[in-house]
Amino acid sequence: MDLGELERDIRGCERCKLHRKRAQIVVGDGSSDADILFVGEAPGRQEDREGIPFVGRAGKLLDSFLDGIGLDRSDVYITNIVLCRPPNNRDPEDEEIKRCTEYLDRHIDILDPDVIVPLGSFATSYILDKYDLRGGSISSVHGKVFTVSNLKGSFKVVPQYHPAAALYNPDLKNIICDDFEKVKEVV
Ligand code: URA
Repeated sequence: MDLGELERDIRGCERCKLHRKRAQIVVGDGSSDADILFVGEAPGRQEDREGIPFVGRAGKLLDSFLDGIGLDRSDVYITNIVLCRPPNNRDPEDEEIKRCTEYLDRHIDILDPDVIVPLGSFATSYILDKYDLRGGSISSVHGKVFTVSNLKGSFKVVPQYHPAAALYNPDLKNIICDDFEKVKEVV
């Protein structure tokens, strides 16, 4: 299985009610050789229109945080825990997360990343739970480095505040920049 086959499997998905109002499914963007996987929450209006994750205002911030550690989005892979836009950008519901994250799990299996960076509380709690990591709220785990060992070896999980949080609270920008340095350190 490669990313192209996964994408073909995802196209046309009607597993949850989000398919009714989406313009398109936003599968992911970046390099199939990426060592770092970023996982956001769900597409917004612009992502839904363009079919690419993080192309709106939060995406511009993500690009700048990546740039700060010498990375470009073509060096990494970016997806979301929910691949269709929730109406009016509401939070994704438990059922939607449950039905969609099989696709994230398959992305992880295919990419086999060295570092997973969940962005925001929804992605962080999904990833920490998936790997039985003892976490807590995003405010207590952001910028921490968790190590997961499995049959394939080991990899790191480095949760971050969601870039959109810095749109509403500019003080978070410096914190996120510092936390992104942790990603650079472990790569
Ligand atoms: N916010 C997200 O979490 N994901 C996107 O793709 C865009 C904004």
